[in-house]
Amino acid sequence: MAQLENSDIQGFALSSYSKNMPCASYYLLKITDPEKCRRWLKGLLNEITTGLDRKEDFCQNIAFTATGLAKFGFTEGELGSFSAPFQEGMITSTRQQILGDYRGSAPQNWSWGNASKPVDVLLLLFARDENMLAERHRKITTQIQSNGGVELIVSLSAGRQPDSREHFGFFDGVGQPVIEGTEQRSRQLKRTGHATEIKAGEFILGYENEMQKIDSVPTRKIMENFGRNGTYLVFRQLEQHVAVFWNYLKNTTSKNGEEGSIQKQESLAAKIIGRWKSGAPVTLHPLCDPTSPSETPQENNFTYAEFDKDGLHCPVGAHIRRTNPRDSLLDDGSLSLLTVNRHRIIRRGRSYGDRLLDVYNDDKKERGLHFICINSNIERQFEFIQQTWVNNQTFGGLNSELDPLIGHRETSDTFTIPGCPARTRIHGLEDFVTTKGGAYFFMPGIEALRNLTQ
Ligand code: HEM
Repeated sequence: MAQLENSDIQGFALSSYSKNMPCASYYLLKITDPEKCRRWLKGLLNEITTGLDRKEDFCQNIAFTATGLAKFGFTEGELGSFSAPFQEGMITSTRQQILGDYRGSAPQNWSWGNASKPVDVLLLLFARDENMLAERHRKITTQIQSNGGVELIVSLSAGRQPDSREHFGFFDGVGQPVIEGTEQRSRQLKRTGHATEIKAGEFILGYENEMQKIDSVPTRKIMENFGRNGTYLVFRQLEQHVAVFWNYLKNTTSKNGEEGSIQKQESLAAKIIGRWKSGAPVTLHPLCDPTSPSETPQENNFTYAEFDKDGLHCPVGAHIRRTNPRDSLLDDGSLSLLTVNRHRIIRRGRSYGDRLLDVYNDDKKERGLHFICINSNIERQFEFIQQTWVNNQTFGGLNSELDPLIGHRETSDTFTIPGCPARTRIHGLEDFVTTKGGAYFFMPGIEALRNLTQ
């Protein structure tokens, strides 16, 4: 088992900091003067949180787009050693197709990360409370203004809701793999009753991956192992249309002029997501959201082929079944798990914007999820999930339907709920989520960061 070099890995690659640091800000920057930017980065180095640190006040991490690295002097050849999507960026027509960024989600409508607002650097700041966040925010903005090497394109705030639910009202952050050999395992076991250990090389470059291979890492003439202990960070700002979602549920469950009950709406939402609001999986709790405290609602110790082959509990096309099909992808369950484990991501997203208190009445304020995930191969992990599972019309033998929660609606607005004796098909799914910005970043190890400042 690989021994991770924690002191050389940025802390965010190993932790979401969500337990001690509920407040967060993300700064998207453009490099205007590489020399000055280098000096700024040098001053910042001591404050970058590593995988060894156990900080209680604030954490800070940093990542770069390909254009950012080019401004640091990376040659075309050196950039060529990074993964193709990273080199290309998120907004080319190929990437747009892979990600399904159509209509309102098309890059020309984004607020950052597109051709009119490109970004080079992502600085992530996490703090134990709002006061600490404000204090750090002041420090960072003063540094940025006085240094003159970087320009602030946008700063985004985010937080973990006290009840850990995303804006549609569902417990988030349950189905996560853990990096083999880390202390994440015992935490995940305690929380969800299950831990899928995945080889470190799937998330941190320079280690063995699920194919029993150590992939070559991005390299620089002056630092051959530049990519070691680094990771790719995918950032997507996803606006959530909460009132559209709940009104859709209300209308769809209404019959003969009678409004669908809250229970019916929540049951339909649970079929769409695959978990109840509490986080309990519908595969294990098909009838209702368990309320008994003796049950662990966030349980994750289940598979589909074994418990729910035909999707009678959790529909085959539900969000969590598409994004992690577990043992149901192939006829051979064990082979399926092995295959699926090559397409996992670690999600590190946080919600932004205020809660909508009356979920049926839109207050016209923006809210959503700053979706962030880490992976060592963007094509094989994040993009694969998005293209081959989320936005695949024939996923799991289905016909002409996409992820009912986050799939694009360009080609289909249908969702099948298997049932006995007959299935139900619902139509007219709306855009519940819109992409508002995004970029692919590389989060280097600490030695590599130091190399950038030289
Ligand atoms: C606003 C957009 C999104 C919302 C509201 C959302 C919501 C949720 C919820 C409620 C869960 C179940 C709880 C959990 O296991 O954490 C979940 C699971 C998951 N989501 Fe999303 N999600 C969104 C976007 C995405 C995207 C873009 C991806 C990747 C392409 C993704 C991948 C996953 C994965 C991998 C799981 C865990 C599945 C499992 O292991 O069982 N989600 N999501």
